[in-house]
Amino acid sequence: MGLYTSVMEVLTFYTGLSPAAFFTILAMMVVVYRTVTAMFVSPEDYNKPPVVSARAQSGFDDPEPPRQPVQLGQVTDRELRAYDGSDPNKPLLMAIKGQIYDVSTGRNFYGPGGPYAMFAGKECSRALALLSFKPEDINGNLEGLGESELTILEDWEFKFIEKYPKVGQLIPEQRTLQNELKEQVQDNLENPNECKDETK
Ligand code: HEM
Repeated sequence: MGLYTSVMEVLTFYTGLSPAAFFTILAMMVVVYRTVTAMFVSPEDYNKPPVVSARAQSGFDDPEPPRQPVQLGQVTDRELRAYDGSDPNKPLLMAIKGQIYDVSTGRNFYGPGGPYAMFAGKECSRALALLSFKPEDINGNLEGLGESELTILEDWEFKFIEKYPKVGQLIPEQRTLQNELKEQVQDNLENPNECKDETK
């Protein structure tokens, strides 16, 4: 108790302040110091590179974890259309020269609302060769393309081979046409009175 009293007396003698005033001013100075120093960064910290997560570095803001590409095998144009991004549970696929690529990691390009969403679920060889976004060019028809256009297509193909896993091949639509015919026959058998004329 004696020590406490003499410390307080010394404080009052040297500062001319009451102990309460002295500690209040001291506390305020600490707060001001901490606030001001928090506004500045030390030179060592300033020169350190920013910590960027692997996900941010990849440039994708998709919160879903990356999924393993699933091998599809042989599918038709029509079947490929199911992989246009409208079903978030399905991968995003795109075909070039009959080869199907899983472009799910390029969701920012090909996913719904992306700048190249019109290519998703489609064979796009002609559109890529002609650098065209016209719906009528988004197919695998290479007829009438010149040498330079075929070279452009080849460059795209190389880019896709390097960047995306190949997950299948496109096969002609006949299989589906056969299925359609089967379905029609089945339908007619089930509803003989509703005879549809498909040629109209
Ligand atoms: C004004 C013209 C265009 C501009 C400014 C443009 C810009 C870009 C940019 C900045 C990228 C990203 C490239 C990268 O990841 O390194 C890109 C990718 C792409 N562009 Fe274009 N583009 C244009 C025209 C076209 C056209 C005409 C087509 C085809 C019809 C096309 C098809 C693509 C495709 C498929 C990708 C994505 C490639 C991938 O999956 O990595 N672009 N474009």
